[in-house]
Amino acid sequence: MKYLYETVADNIVAHIEQGVYRQGDRLPGVRSLSQQMNISVSTALEAYRLLEDQGRIQARARSGYYVSAYHRQAIAEPDISDPPATPSRVTGQSLTRQILWAAKNPGQVNLGASMPDADFLPIRPLQQTTNKVIRLFGKHSFDTDELLGNQELRRQIAKRMVELNCTDGPDDIIITQGARDAVRLALMATCEPGDVIAIESPTFYGLLQVIESCGMETLEIPTHPRAGISLEALQLALEQWPIKACLVISNFNNPLGSCMPDERKKALVTLLEKHEIPLIEDDVYGDLCFDSKRPSVIKSWSQQGEVLYCSSFAKTLSPGLRIGWLMPGRYKEKVENLKYMLHQATPTLNQLIIAHFLEHGGYDRYLRQVRQQYARSVARTVKAVSLFFPDGTRMTQPEGGFALWVELPEGIDAMELHRRASLEGIIIAPGPLFSTTQKKYSNFIRLSCAVPWSDKVERALKKLGDMVRDLIMERVV
Ligand SMILES: Cc1ncc(COP(=O)(O)O)c(C=O)c1O
Repeated sequence: MKYLYETVADNIVAHIEQGVYRQGDRLPGVRSLSQQMNISVSTALEAYRLLEDQGRIQARARSGYYVSAYHRQAIAEPDISDPPATPSRVTGQSLTRQILWAAKNPGQVNLGASMPDADFLPIRPLQQTTNKVIRLFGKHSFDTDELLGNQELRRQIAKRMVELNCTDGPDDIIITQGARDAVRLALMATCEPGDVIAIESPTFYGLLQVIESCGMETLEIPTHPRAGISLEALQLALEQWPIKACLVISNFNNPLGSCMPDERKKALVTLLEKHEIPLIEDDVYGDLCFDSKRPSVIKSWSQQGEVLYCSSFAKTLSPGLRIGWLMPGRYKEKVENLKYMLHQATPTLNQLIIAHFLEHGGYDRYLRQVRQQYARSVARTVKAVSLFFPDGTRMTQPEGGFALWVELPEGIDAMELHRRASLEGIIIAPGPLFSTTQKKYSNFIRLSCAVPWSDKVERALKKLGDMVRDLIMERVV
């Protein structure tokens, strides 16, 4: 027998499923619900609490209950990864360039990129800000700015970082040409060519490219699709190998979507500080959480300045403005020298545009809207894959970012799937690109959800599912 509050909760779910209330909509207040349904206020409250526990709805302080941006589908997730247990040199990255940068044909359905489509970017507000900034700053927009980067931009970033419990000030921030550049500077400041860097497995190929270009090696550590890098495996690796730094994507890893829980973030800092090993934290997706509460940053637990925090506005405001930042902790002087030697300055106009955008509240307004957009896009893609792909497919269901990591049935060759799909104008990122030697993840693909949803995208996902079925049949025959 069901309790009354469960029946009330079922009713609300039915309304959500019929589309009466959509993702992000505010639900009736507790009192209105009690009047509407002729139930007590405490029953209404219990119904909402039940739905909150199920992740269907979300309470927002002093605002009420909202339909969650995201609801998980019943589909299994991939197991924790099992990479090779020895360090190796990064190889084969020119293949990544051929596969993904070649895919720039406007007619294609590009599910392979890790950059957002322009539809997800605040293009008009950015255009308006650009005009304003040129009017306001005149000649200075085209001059060089400080070595550390534009002061107002650093101040704006520092303000946001304080909200994340990182108390470093504007002078502890170095503006970079995107997050990749920040990671490169962090690696060069902490390690030497030939050193071994512990990384998550799988990881973003762009980070592998940076490691390769620095002449360093990687040791891939098993990583869980939700909880992130295995601390147990990392601890063993630290005892066994001469690891000189650890590089992790703390929130909504690309491609896994993992987001380390707070206690693991804290434990990671403690473990690395015990071994006196710097941690390079890449947090380019943290602002793209589907929940209203942004996940924490690992740096907030660092006591010894051994965390070098890297991020950028490439996934939120613009991949093309190439503005990121690095909070290098105790490695500041080294990073500053490296920046001076490598770039001297970062483009002034681009920094002014972003500083102005942040200062006038455009960023937070935009984030509120785009988080919902990504949540919907991820939910639709997950639903389509669970519908169109054959049994035995597993996938992640991240709660932020826009990457989905899909495990195809055993034996399916993702490179062959990529080859066939590209002939049909569909681009995907095959799994091997996310491993150091491109020998792992042969039956995985990454799908990007930063593509505006359309019938064409839905048909492309159906086509991909059919191609996977063909590949299964060819193996049987
Ligand atoms: C985890 C991660 N780090 C860094 C980057 C690159 O960022 P940027 O364009 O700011 O260099 C990406 C882009 O895909 C990414 O996924």
